[in-house]
Amino acid sequence: MQNNFEIVNMLTLRAKKIWLNRLAEMREKNLNPYDGHDTVGAITLDKQGSMAAATSTSGLFMKKAGRIGDSPLSGSGFYVDSEIGGAAATGLGEDIMKGCLSYEIVRLMGEGKSPQQACDQAVYPFIEKLKKRYGKAGEFSLVAMNHNGEWGVATNVEFTFSVGNETKAPRILMANPGPDHTTSIAPITQEWLDAYEKRIKAPIN
Ligand code: GLY
Repeated sequence: MQNNFEIVNMLTLRAKKIWLNRLAEMREKNLNPYDGHDTVGAITLDKQGSMAAATSTSGLFMKKAGRIGDSPLSGSGFYVDSEIGGAAATGLGEDIMKGCLSYEIVRLMGEGKSPQQACDQAVYPFIEKLKKRYGKAGEFSLVAMNHNGEWGVATNVEFTFSVGNETKAPRILMANPGPDHTTSIAPITQEWLDAYEKRIKAPIN
């Protein structure tokens, strides 16, 4: 506002209907608002070698008023050091914050790990730790990129993400937890894309 950017109400009619429906659903079915995740995290590297990391959200959909998730917290929801790389998180902030996972991934890349090694090493043992200590772990996923533009991802649920650069058009990939603290990554299928498009364009009553 101080720099005269236009102030726009981003609330679409569709989003408002989804919100009203979810309110009713929570009342009727006693649902937990912290199911699923939808924060968008991004890491960028520009031509000068400068990196940035960002998260999209003010918190989980239907969160309690006043709750602070991981997304605005440097080190938890995102972290970047242009000399090393960056990481960003999506998922249950209460658990992501317990591990400062974005910072931990960048720290491991700083020790010489590739982004994929750093993601696997930071995320999977931490999920086991959460399960051991609390009997459960929330759903979460992390993406990372180093200062050479190499990337990695780790997740405990099916997780789609996108990568692209000045020579390769953005592509959508799907990650799933693999065996022995690894991540399985594959391009999304046309069937997946069709089903996704159908879901997000389905009429809302
Ligand atoms: N990761 C979003 C939140 O926990 O609020």
